[in-house]
Amino acid sequence: MHDSEFWFHHFKINLHEKRINWNNPPTISHQEKSQIIESLQAWQLGETSEGKQLIAAAEKHSQNLDDPHYVDAIKLFIQEEQKHGENLGKYLDLVGEKRIQSNWGDRIFRTIRHLNSSMEVWTITVIIVENAALVYYQAISDAVNCVLLRSICRDILMDEGHHIKFQNERLFSIFQSKGIYARAFAVTWYCILFFATIHAIWFAHSKAFKAGGIDMNRFMRQMYHKFFYTIRYIHHQPLPETLSAQFVKEFNK
Ligand SMILES: [Fe+2]
Ligand SMILES: [Fe+2]
Repeated sequence: MHDSEFWFHHFKINLHEKRINWNNPPTISHQEKSQIIESLQAWQLGETSEGKQLIAAAEKHSQNLDDPHYVDAIKLFIQEEQKHGENLGKYLDLVGEKRIQSNWGDRIFRTIRHLNSSMEVWTITVIIVENAALVYYQAISDAVNCVLLRSICRDILMDEGHHIKFQNERLFSIFQSKGIYARAFAVTWYCILFFATIHAIWFAHSKAFKAGGIDMNRFMRQMYHKFFYTIRYIHHQPLPETLSAQFVKEFNK
């Protein structure tokens, strides 16, 4: 477990890492484009949120806990997401594709975000979506031969790994403050949210996932493994390395 100050410094340093060589020209083929570009446009849009509602929820949450560094960490976390959106947008510009302004999936998520001021709802939603992002950007990277796009995906994957750890730790604190009935209720609605979200993501992006070698069964198994890890984590503590590695092997088959 790390405190908010740790995460603030982590994001501050990580934001200045330059891991993408923009001198590499985009070399995506016509066929690769036809399989992933629509999906990439939608994902790019999703990465560009201003995060006003998330900051408002974090401010309320940090006041309750007297933890001002949490808001600072969240603001840098949002900047990192915007960096992903900007990098993907820059890539779309380079390959002559437009940055879309809205789509149905984004409209649904934005509506939910507007209605929500709970840090718990934010945190579990972000964990589910970011776990899907891990599978997604790996699939995009595997679907193309373009060095530039692959390095953009690798950069995002490195950031998202830390984001999930950051959010898992926050959910752990929130979950540990609950009584037994509240915990049972929480796990129930986390599961409903999880199944609804992963199906929405699969049906919206199945073509791109398949181009990267991820079929529905493999996607669901990987997502289930990651979700199970979070549920286990918030009850006790991180799984021992060996057990965790065993699950990864089992569910990533
Ligand atoms: Fe992201
Ligand atoms: Fe993220």
